[in-house]
Amino acid sequence: MRAFVLNRYGGPDRARLTDLRRPSPKRGQLLIQVRAAGLNPVDYKIRQGMLRAINRYPLPAIMGNELAGEVVQLGAGASGYSKGDRVYARVAKERLGAFAEFACVETALVAPMPHSLSFEQAAGVPLAGLTAMQCLRDELGAAEGMKLLITGGAGGVGCFAIPLAKWLGATVTTTASPRGEALVRELGADEVIDYTTDSLTNHQRRFDAALDLVGSDMEAVFGSVAKGGKVVSVAAMPEPQTARVDLERDWKLQSLFWLISYRLRAQAKAAEVSYRYKFMHPSGEELRELSQLIDAGTLPVKIDRSIPFEQIDQAFAYLEAGRAKGKVVVKF
Ligand SMILES: NC(=O)c1ccc[n+]([C@@H]2O[C@H](COP(=O)([O-])OP(=O)(O)OC[C@H]3O[C@@H](n4cnc5c(N)ncnc54)[C@H](OP(=O)(O)O)[C@@H]3O)[C@@H](O)[C@H]2O)c1
Repeated sequence: MRAFVLNRYGGPDRARLTDLRRPSPKRGQLLIQVRAAGLNPVDYKIRQGMLRAINRYPLPAIMGNELAGEVVQLGAGASGYSKGDRVYARVAKERLGAFAEFACVETALVAPMPHSLSFEQAAGVPLAGLTAMQCLRDELGAAEGMKLLITGGAGGVGCFAIPLAKWLGATVTTTASPRGEALVRELGADEVIDYTTDSLTNHQRRFDAALDLVGSDMEAVFGSVAKGGKVVSVAAMPEPQTARVDLERDWKLQSLFWLISYRLRAQAKAAEVSYRYKFMHPSGEELRELSQLIDAGTLPVKIDRSIPFEQIDQAFAYLEAGRAKGKVVVKF
């Protein structure tokens, strides 16, 4: 089978399309024929070796974090699915493997695809959709009447976060450039701050909470949230809770994250807001909830580009340039 394999950490030339043997599902896994796979910034961060402190993959490794496809075989003990079922998943973080014609995925991480979506649309949902849901619902408790700031609303995660926050009842202000303004407004943003000409520091301190998807100028984000409010980021610096709660890791990683987030935590403390860096987790159960919202028409799926798998280098280059509006996927 064709697979996109990381051979050494580094630049774009370190990952190559390669012919490999088709894998066999282990106990509790499904073998999925991948029809489309989604790209995310974490893919190029992994390639660059930026996440080595968290997951050190034995190389060579098949890359890729999310996919949509058809079940072709059930491993021993795997149940709940049949051959031919259309499924999608955010695959296990410690194994990856979505950028290949076939992938083995634990049944607990898989869910039936939304009926209303194509494979290409479905492949763009799991990682960004789960991130948005886990941050808004579980961390920020987004609810009716909450005044919420979402930075970077036009990207892969933002395009799920805006309609989800609206559905939960929040009033949403987002930052976007004129390139993304029409999109974020279409998704339901109540107010758009043009980050290319305006700064959050020019605005009153008026948000109840913030979801940060950009990671820069965090002092301005902290300063825009009312005292006692929460700021959750998926793009700035991990902090001790990230290691303890999200990654279930010991004091060593907690200490490292304590150190690298020191400045940010001090800024948050000075602004009298709380700061949390969230690492999303894969979950088939939560994907089923997203499927329901998508099929009900509550959660639209925005695909910026769908590129043939054989041109995955181009998909990486486009995403890595940082201008994607919605999701970038590769089709098989
Ligand atoms: N911790 C986790 O579990 C987790 C999960 C998912 C994602 N993430 C991280 O979250 C971040 C966002 O992910 P993504 O998939 O949404 O990325 P993305 O799709 O690559 O985001 C691209 C978008 O960001 C916008 N943008 C760039 N700079 C901006 C700025 N200063 N202010 C406002 N918008 C800006 C761009 O808009 P313009 O073209 O208009 O400039 C573009 O539309 C990444 O760092 C990713 O690694 C973390």
